[in-house]
Amino acid sequence: MQIIKYAFQQHGDDRGMLVALEEFDDIPFEIKRVYYMYDTKGGVHRGFHAHKNLEQILICIHGSCDVLLDNGKQKKIVSLEKPYEGLYVPNNMWREMYNFSSDAVLMVLASEHYVEADYIRDYDEFLKFVKET
Ligand code: TYD
Repeated sequence: MQIIKYAFQQHGDDRGMLVALEEFDDIPFEIKRVYYMYDTKGGVHRGFHAHKNLEQILICIHGSCDVLLDNGKQKKIVSLEKPYEGLYVPNNMWREMYNFSSDAVLMVLASEHYVEADYIRDYDEFLKFVKET
């Protein structure tokens, strides 16, 4: 199972740092939606779903968190702890996010609008779906 973790270009100078992300250049899809999680309570696990047709890039722009990715055959855990790192999450990938630091801000760039019908929220259904596709 291949994990794609981007290290985005940092534009640093004596004032500080800046990262710029452009669709089809730094990000491999059209960005149709951006959302972010913050003030995540201690010990909380989020996610627990996969998408049938949605690509995402996860960026922990402040603080840190861990992401478990599971393609139905293999699982991998990726730590996000730098504001210039982006984790690519393709479709048909179960994800869980946890170990959020109290200051964590997890931003997600998504290739589609929010469509509840695109979610697979049941793990057994996910395993069945990836076997069939
Ligand atoms: P939820 O799907 O529970 O987040 P996650 O599974 O990633 O931890 O989303 C929390 C709430 O936010 C839920 O009521 C749906 C809503 N929501 C939107 O309205 N738009 C969005 O783009 C997302 C991701 C969630």
